[in-house]
Amino acid sequence: MRRIEFHNREQETKEIMDILDSEPSLITFVYGPINSGKTELITNLIKNLPKSQKVFYINLRGRLISNYDEFIRVLFDVEHEARYERIKEFLKPVVNVLPESYSGIPIPKDLFLKLFKEKEVEDAFVYIETVLRAFYKNDQNPVLVIDELQVIGDLKIDGFLIYKLFNFFIRLTKELHLAHVFVISSDSLFIERVYSEAMLEGRCRYLLVDDFDRETTTAFLEKNGFTDGEKSLAWEYCGGKPVCLVELINRKFGGRNVKEKCEDALNIRVSQLRDLLDLLGYVKPQVMLENEKYAVEREHVVGILKDFVDRDIVNFEGHRPEKQFMINKNILFLDPKNGKVRPQSKLNLLAIREVMRDAQNWDGSAG
Ligand SMILES: Nc1ncnc2c1ncn2[C@@H]1O[C@H](COP(=O)(O)OP(=O)(O)OP(=O)(O)O)[C@@H](O)[C@H]1O
Ligand SMILES: [Mg+2]
Repeated sequence: MRRIEFHNREQETKEIMDILDSEPSLITFVYGPINSGKTELITNLIKNLPKSQKVFYINLRGRLISNYDEFIRVLFDVEHEARYERIKEFLKPVVNVLPESYSGIPIPKDLFLKLFKEKEVEDAFVYIETVLRAFYKNDQNPVLVIDELQVIGDLKIDGFLIYKLFNFFIRLTKELHLAHVFVISSDSLFIERVYSEAMLEGRCRYLLVDDFDRETTTAFLEKNGFTDGEKSLAWEYCGGKPVCLVELINRKFGGRNVKEKCEDALNIRVSQLRDLLDLLGYVKPQVMLENEKYAVEREHVVGILKDFVDRDIVNFEGHRPEKQFMINKNILFLDPKNGKVRPQSKLNLLAIREVMRDAQNWDGSAG
């Protein structure tokens, strides 16, 4: 099997290494459009860290978390029961049940059952803090990475769990300087809420992991044997979206036509967007702004999309419910740092332009 090598990310890697080289004091939120390579960047970086630096990487994606029990199970990875030798050294008293390939917070099953029977979130946090202390070695702070944290964004356990977690992260970083905390999310509305959250003001930093720029994209494709013509075609359709480029590279190595793949991918987006606009002629979805419900108006959605016919980026202000709706649908991406909205990918931008070309069809009611 052919494996595509990890490409570049020098600047982002350097930024994270600089963070790891200094005392923990802020929570780092890693964000960016969907499929921009956030998880890949972090997992690649973790792989290359010295063995002595302990990293706990917890990915909440795809985990069904609707209550406290499930959250704690994911956090502590109690499913696995094999032993993990290296951790033994540090955690002698609690090391009976540690998994082989381990990334959650280690905890033996007995202790887990005892500690969390009472369903006190704070107990869990005290335990994690204790584990992190045990891993603080030779001036190297342990690293806690939570990927897709928005999964528990709405979970309520005696108040919102997310606020308790944020408080705990602030304690680990700014107050105790004990562990580096990275939170990754591709949900830009979640990041926007975080961004305007008073309790996090001055206590976190934001690191954008965006699609590759043109130069990086060209180098990536060149490394993988693309001709000049194929390179421009890939850029025209995929921009610097790594997942899309990887798809084209695989296609090329399979001896198949790259252009066909580009057109197929665009056609799918176009038809999805047409379908969504058609649906909005019949139904009025609602979105929540603060605690109030707002209806999504199709004509405003069309108006927003039309703005992208001759530009790549617009302001977040104006027709907020509709913008929020399109962000929720992963058609648009919001960067809270500059308050700008843009399509999630080059394919989305092209699809928007194609659908808006026959925009007059969308100006009236359903049809
Ligand atoms: N630097 C890179 N070099 C090579 N391939 C990459 C790179 N970054 C991402 N990819 C490819 O793109 C795919 C998607 O990346 P990844 O899952 O990390 O994106 P993400 O931003 O975490 O996505 P999501 O928004 O779904 O969380 C990867 O599986 C990998 O194939
Ligand atoms: Mg990811």
